[in-house]
Amino acid sequence: MDSKNSPSQVSNLRSQPSGVLLGVNIDHVATLRQARYARNAHSINVEPDPVEAALAAERGGAAGITAHLRQDRRHIGDRDIYLLKEVLSTKLNLEMGNTPEILEIALKVLPSDVCLVPESREEITTEGGLDCVAHRTSLEPTVKALRDAGITVSLFIDPEPAQIEMASLLGVPVVELHTGAYAEASGVERESELHRLINAAALADKAGIQVNAGHGLNYTNIGPILTLPKLVELNIGHAIVSRAVFVGLEQATREMAELLD
Ligand code: PXP
Repeated sequence: MDSKNSPSQVSNLRSQPSGVLLGVNIDHVATLRQARYARNAHSINVEPDPVEAALAAERGGAAGITAHLRQDRRHIGDRDIYLLKEVLSTKLNLEMGNTPEILEIALKVLPSDVCLVPESREEITTEGGLDCVAHRTSLEPTVKALRDAGITVSLFIDPEPAQIEMASLLGVPVVELHTGAYAEASGVERESELHRLINAAALADKAGIQVNAGHGLNYTNIGPILTLPKLVELNIGHAIVSRAVFVGLEQATREMAELLD
């Protein structure tokens, strides 16, 4: 995989970038591992290791690592989450559906951040934002339990005013705006999706909520997203891991981090 940097290079790369922060989603590395080893979790051959990938992403300038522990454990497993918490020198952003089992794990692991996402077994990846208006009652105790444990809670929501309002009522400090519709659209439709995101970001900021965003972003569609007001962090996975096949994960992360800076 990527070559290691000398200690002085590593500390330079890990200094906080001045632009938008990059969270690298490493689920896709685990997906590749599971494609071969899902039926033999105890095999000694478990490459590629998402934990090793996370360290390479940190060397490339990631400000944090994102991993989604799904109920069906289709990619990231419990072992990955516990190890990530132990070895990361940046921060762990645990993505999770609102279920008692995963909540219990989050409260044991105590990642720096948790991003609550919708989850259905049929989807290939997280398809829509969390409908926090419809799920207010079940979200309230989860948000409280996570916040009481000192975790920074974020809701992955569509860029809709009603969702921002509910995020504010639920008292979360951060939202991650779903950029999937923007990424999928072209032409006038893409412009309109961009404006929805800009409006939602402005509303969130007005409500005192930190603005993060992600999903479907890549090296070419990222530019306009960087114009979102008060954008703090982007979470990007597929594009970086895809580029890593050709240039290595450290370099793929560095290239994206430079675009965000
Ligand atoms: N943010 C969230 C909440 C996600 O669920 C995902 C996909 O796992 C991402 C960001 C990253 O999306 P992508 O892999 O398309 O960059």
